[in-house]
Amino acid sequence: MSSPSPATAPPVLEVDNLVTTFDTDAGRLTAVDGVSFTVKAGHTVGIVGESGCGKSVTALSVMRLLPQPMGQIRGGEIRLDGEDLVSLPIDDMQQIRGGRIGMIFQEPMTALNPVHTIGRQLSEVFLLHLTKDPKDAWQRGITMLERVGIPAPNDRMHEYPHQLSGGMRQRVVIAMALACEPKVVIADEPTTALDVTIQAQILELMQQLQRDLGLAIVLITHDLGVVAEMCDEVVVMYAGRIAESGPVERIFNHPTHPYTRGLLASIPRLTTPRKSELPVIEGMVPSLADLPEGCRFQNRCPYREDICGQLPPLEEVDADHHCACHRWRELPAANVS
Ligand SMILES: Nc1ncnc2c1ncn2[C@@H]1O[C@H](COP(=O)(O)OP(=O)(O)O)[C@@H](O)[C@H]1O
Ligand SMILES: [Mg+2]
Repeated sequence: MSSPSPATAPPVLEVDNLVTTFDTDAGRLTAVDGVSFTVKAGHTVGIVGESGCGKSVTALSVMRLLPQPMGQIRGGEIRLDGEDLVSLPIDDMQQIRGGRIGMIFQEPMTALNPVHTIGRQLSEVFLLHLTKDPKDAWQRGITMLERVGIPAPNDRMHEYPHQLSGGMRQRVVIAMALACEPKVVIADEPTTALDVTIQAQILELMQQLQRDLGLAIVLITHDLGVVAEMCDEVVVMYAGRIAESGPVERIFNHPTHPYTRGLLASIPRLTTPRKSELPVIEGMVPSLADLPEGCRFQNRCPYREDICGQLPPLEEVDADHHCACHRWRELPAANVS
């Protein structure tokens, strides 16, 4: 079956005004505060931001895998093909995970069981979702390993995770995530733990599988280089909120939010080599227990003014491009050469 062209396709995944909190000793902290984005078939949406900005909590919310009972979705909607996931009974959600939504995490060993063979773990996914016949499940496992570029898949099926390299392990995780031909894959820093060459191979594999299967991908990364390579749209998060979102070429060529500008300025560029010292944004992401009143970026922002003591709304800059900064209209054009 051919999938509809991405431009006209309805979104597969819609996250609408998501609010997720944690109950902690310091009180109730809002880790995700009003985040919205949509992903269409064949498209990749990147979620970027420094560590602690709420990227993983957003992903865990979508998959309903928040640590219980501290982590709770308090508001908003998450729809998969129009079906609300927030109110879905947790048993039904189990069927959706690994079935209609695939997951890839940073550290492959968190997704793999060290005491079972690759073959057993991969077969289990098929047995859970697609077939009752163990032989059929095993055969499908071999085909899947082949598909993700693992040499000698027959032999690999009998091996344990520790017998594989990090890159091969992540390929196995991708095979497991894609086993049931999900419509959406959520990948949380899928290549951060891998070295650069392997990282490039894994990203290329994901792109190829996306083309073959029409996957919608949510790619979480702190690496804007990966975003440039992989994504159609970007959501820039800061301290639990969206700072800026839009098509990748808009964000890279016309970054509007001071935080996005800061992130972009710190990417090493091949074309215009910089001095060894890259500009970085000074200061740190504020703790959720100690957020400033108003704009959360204000204590690091070179453009701060009194108005920034009020929370900036997410405003439309132009089609599909949004920015949450009081001052975006007045700021000098970003130097992105
Ligand atoms: N299990 C937890 N308990 C309490 N707070 C948490 C928990 N997990 C995450 N948080 C809070 O949510 C914030 C965002 O975390 P996370 O989404 O993991 O960030 P990242 O953008 O690096 O993926 C953290 O800074 C932390 O304050
Ligand atoms: Mg994370």
